[in-house]
Amino acid sequence: MEFNEENLAKRLSGRRVGSGIHFFREVDSTNDVAFRLALAGAPEGTVVIAESQTRGKGRLKRQWQSPPGCNLYTSIVLRPEIDPLFAPQITLMTGVAVAEILSRYCPENVTLKWPNDVQIGGRKVCGILTEMSAAAAKRINFVVVGIGVNINIERVEFDESFRKIATSLKEEAGREISRLDLTVKLFDNFESLYIRLLREGFGSIKETWLKYTDMVGKQIRVVFNDDIKAGEVLGVDDFGALIIADENDVIRRVIAGDATIVKDG
Ligand code: BTN
Repeated sequence: MEFNEENLAKRLSGRRVGSGIHFFREVDSTNDVAFRLALAGAPEGTVVIAESQTRGKGRLKRQWQSPPGCNLYTSIVLRPEIDPLFAPQITLMTGVAVAEILSRYCPENVTLKWPNDVQIGGRKVCGILTEMSAAAAKRINFVVVGIGVNINIERVEFDESFRKIATSLKEEAGREISRLDLTVKLFDNFESLYIRLLREGFGSIKETWLKYTDMVGKQIRVVFNDDIKAGEVLGVDDFGALIIADENDVIRRVIAGDATIVKDG
């Protein structure tokens, strides 16, 4: 079945995530389109999907390679009634939603890397970019969750600079993957976990995140602008921060940056 708006709408009918689908051949960035729709009042569960992006955005002002016809580029509008301080839980929850689905295609070697990478065999297969509009210190207006999954892109098609650190589901599973099936499964799982997060809190989702990460117990270095923090990873807290113990056993919270594992703990 073709990856298009009609088939997605059929398969997602009755669900909250995908209740409104905006499907484009090409956009600047699905996050930017979703942000504009949310500002104009788009309800929770609105999704934007594009075949390609001309300015796909990654974290820390990076680009997200977004060629047509092979991958998933999507952004979901949410309107959670939670304190903005807890918004990073949504990013970690999204990582869990993706990891659980990719594990069905590649059992064994799917891992989560803080804060928002999903990897297969240590190479990045998915990135998540969460952007928020908060009306006041205590109230979220909306959140846009952007998800990019490398599904059928081949290794040779990656920009030279990503080729060693990126992968696709097809490269890892050894076969072409239906984008329609994967997208429907992903939205479905995302919706279940989101409902669980709102009803039951972050506890069980955090546990699953920790099950999928291979960072706990490892020595890491986190670089953010000019700040470098190093230490052994202990876990994540309820605000989505990475908790590390530095060389003097002082416990530190890391809230942003790029983490590199330097050696096993
Ligand atoms: C990262 O790993 O740095 C985050 C990458 C997020 C990419 C996705 S693709 C769909 C959505 N639209 C964007 O412009 N970015 C996100």
